Amino acid sequence: MTFIEVDDPFYRVFHPRPAYLIVSGRDDDVNVMAASWVMPISEEPWTLGLALDRETYTYKLVKKYGEYTVNVVSDKDVDLVYYVGTRSKYEVDKIKERNIPLSPSKNIKTPYYTNALGYAECKVMKMIPVGEVDLVIGEAVAVYADKKLFTRYGWDLRKTRILMQNIGRAFVTNSGTPIILKR
Ligand SMILES: Cc1cc2nc3c(=O)[nH]c(=O)nc-3n(C[C@H](O)[C@H](O)[C@H](O)COP(=O)(O)O)c2cc1C
Repeated sequence: MTFIEVDDPFYRVFHPRPAYLIVSGRDDDVNVMAASWVMPISEEPWTLGLALDRETYTYKLVKKYGEYTVNVVSDKDVDLVYYVGTRSKYEVDKIKERNIPLSPSKNIKTPYYTNALGYAECKVMKMIPVGEVDLVIGEAVAVYADKKLFTRYGWDLRKTRILMQNIGRAFVTNSGTPIILKR
């Protein structure tokens, strides 16, 4: 094997990664952003880590209310993911602008994305500053998955196309078909 030493951004080596929608806030102050830097951390309790840039509006809402939802989406939502991942609620009300459908959660006051394949309702346990982000450790108090797509072995990948980001505007799904967004 011949290696090249990778230059910035280093994280390209660790992509593709699923691109999720993070919904935060409640009542009349709700927001949606994209996040790929999400990982399960522990099983007891169920926890998910999210690397959350402190300059995002989502960070403000997560800090204020201590809860959020992590929403798994399909490749059909690639435009939406890119849109919410490149604009901030500090500038535009993305939910209103794109008419993003949200539904009430059961255990927290933050809604989830209605068209999600699955989602987790999370309550913040800890926020740890690392560089420009906070590593948000959230307890996944309940996790849901589309009955038609989910089996005891996880997602039925013959039927489910989970959206992943390679880098920038380059996305891929588990079929292996690249989705390159036009400028
Ligand atoms: C596919 C994709 C993945 C992203 N992953 C993350 C992430 O894991 N953490 C993060 O803080 N920002 C991530 N971003 C950037 C945020 O979504 C972006 O800063 C967004 O504009 C924040 O919105 P807000 O200010 O309304 O909260 C990602 C963007 C895209 C397009």
